[in-house]
Amino acid sequence: MRKNYELPSLNEAKLRSKGSVNTEQFILDPQLVGIGLHKKYMLHTFGCQANVRDSEVMAGILESLGFTMANSDEDADLILLNTCAIRENAENKVFGQIGNLKHLKQKNPDLIIGIAGCMAQEEVVVNKILQSYHQVDLVFGTHNIHRLGDLVYKAMFSKEKTIEVYSKEGDIIENLPERRFGEHKAWVNIMYGCDKFCTYCIVPFTRGKERSRSVEDILDEVNDLKSRGFKEVTLLGQNVNSYGKDLQLEGGFAYLLKEVALTGIERIRFTTSHPWDFTQDMVNTIAAYPNIMPYIHLPVQSGNNDILKIMGRRYTVEEYKDTVRRLKEAIPHLTFSTDIIVGFPNESDEQFNDTLALYDEMKYDFAFTFIYSPRSGTPAAKFDDNVSLEVKKKRLAALNERVKKYALEHNQAMVNQIVEVLVDGPSKKDPSIVSGYTPHQKLVNFKAKDVKSGDIVHVKVTDAKTWFLLGEQI
Ligand code: SAH
Ligand code: SF4
Ligand code: F3S
Repeated sequence: MRKNYELPSLNEAKLRSKGSVNTEQFILDPQLVGIGLHKKYMLHTFGCQANVRDSEVMAGILESLGFTMANSDEDADLILLNTCAIRENAENKVFGQIGNLKHLKQKNPDLIIGIAGCMAQEEVVVNKILQSYHQVDLVFGTHNIHRLGDLVYKAMFSKEKTIEVYSKEGDIIENLPERRFGEHKAWVNIMYGCDKFCTYCIVPFTRGKERSRSVEDILDEVNDLKSRGFKEVTLLGQNVNSYGKDLQLEGGFAYLLKEVALTGIERIRFTTSHPWDFTQDMVNTIAAYPNIMPYIHLPVQSGNNDILKIMGRRYTVEEYKDTVRRLKEAIPHLTFSTDIIVGFPNESDEQFNDTLALYDEMKYDFAFTFIYSPRSGTPAAKFDDNVSLEVKKKRLAALNERVKKYALEHNQAMVNQIVEVLVDGPSKKDPSIVSGYTPHQKLVNFKAKDVKSGDIVHVKVTDAKTWFLLGEQI
C-alpha cells in the first residue's frame, strides 16, 4: 500500500531515466466498483488537448466506479480540477477556482475536491496547496491517472489528505476506461511526455520523458473510433515528430501517419509538430493521403535567431522558412497556424520586430500569442529580464493586430468558395445556424438544410469575419 503523501520533486522530474517503458493493461479493481453509486462528479479541464484526453479517461474511470456526471459544482460529491501549468495566469485561474470552492466544502464537508494535471506535478504548487488550500482533499498527477479509483476511495474514507504524485514518468497504460466528450471528433494520444526542454517550458517536468504508444494500439483505437462512427481523429503528442524514436520504429511518425491514413477514417489531424525535425518523409506523407488534413500548426515562438537559440528551439528562422517552403511545395493550399511568445527575457525592440517581420512574411491563418511567463524550475526563470510588463503588453497588442489582419484576409479570400464542412452542431450563439470546420480548420457558421452533427456537407461561403466564415449549405 502506498503512503497517503507522495509529493512531487522537481529534481527528480528533471531526470531522464534510461530505463525502458513498459506497456501495462488497466485492470479495474472489482472491490472499487460501486463506490460511486448515487454519487456525482464534476470535472473542470484547463490547458491543452492532452488534458482534455486525460479528463476523458478520468471520467471513464469514475463512471466505471458508479459515479455519474453532475450538472454543476453544487450538485457534485466529487469535484476534480484537471489543471495546466504552462503560464502563471493559467495557474492563477485554478487557484481562483479552488478558492471559490471553499464555501461548498463548508456547506458539505463530505464533498471531495481533487487537483490533477500539470500543476499537481509541481513541487511549489503542492506545497502551496498544503499550506493554504485546506479545502483540497486529493492531489494526483499526470503519471498516475490510472490509480484514480484507489485514490478516490482513499480520499472518501481517510481523514488525511490523499496526495500521490509520481515525479518519474509512469508506464504506458492501455485499455483505460474512457468517456469520449465528442461524438464524431476524437483525440488519440500517440505519445506522452517531452524531451525537448525548451528553456521556458514546464511541460518536460510535468509530463516526463517521451514515450510512444505502439502502432498497433493506436491503430486499434482509430479503427474502433471509425467503427463507432467517428469522422475525425487528432493524433496528440507534445512533439509528434518524435513519435516512435523510443521504439526504434523505422519511419517514425511518417510511418504511423501513413498507417492511420490507410484506416480510411475521414479526417486526420495531428498536434503538435516541432519545426526542428519535420522530415521530408512527413511532408510527403501529408501530401500523399487526402484524409490527412491540409492544415499544420507549426509553433515558431520567435522570428529572431538569437532568441530562438536562448529558447533552445533547435532551428533558425531560415530553417523554419525552409520547412514551410517544403510543405507548401508539396501541399499548395496548406493553411498554417503558430504559437509566439513575446517578451522573452531581454528581448529587444529589434528582436521583436524580427518576429513581426516573420509574421508578415508567413501571413499565418491564425496564431496563439503569449507574453512570456517565468516557470519555476525552468532555465529561463533564472534569466535576468530588462523588459517591463508594459512593453511586453504593447508588443503583444502589436502582434495581435497582425494576427487579426491576416486571419481576416485569409477568410475574405474564401468568399464564394465551396467548402466541405464537418458539422459540429448548432452554433452556440444562434441555434438556427449550424457550425463546423473545413479541412483547412476554418470555422464556418452556416444556414443548413437538414443536417446532423457528424455529417460532412458542402457549404458556399457567403461572408468572412476575422475568426469565422458565414455560409449556406448547397
Ligand atoms: N509542445 C508544443 C507546445 C505546448 S505549450 C510545442 O512545442 O509546440 C503551447 C505553447 O505555450 C507553446 O508553443 C508556447 O508558445 C507557449 N508557452 C510555453 N511555455 C510558455 C511560457 N513559459 N510562457 C509563455 N508561453 C509559453
Ligand atoms: Fe515545451 Fe518545447 Fe516540449 Fe513544446 S517542445 S512541450 S515548447 S519543451
Ligand atoms: Fe498545460 Fe500541461 Fe498541456 S502545462 S499546456 S496542460 S501539457
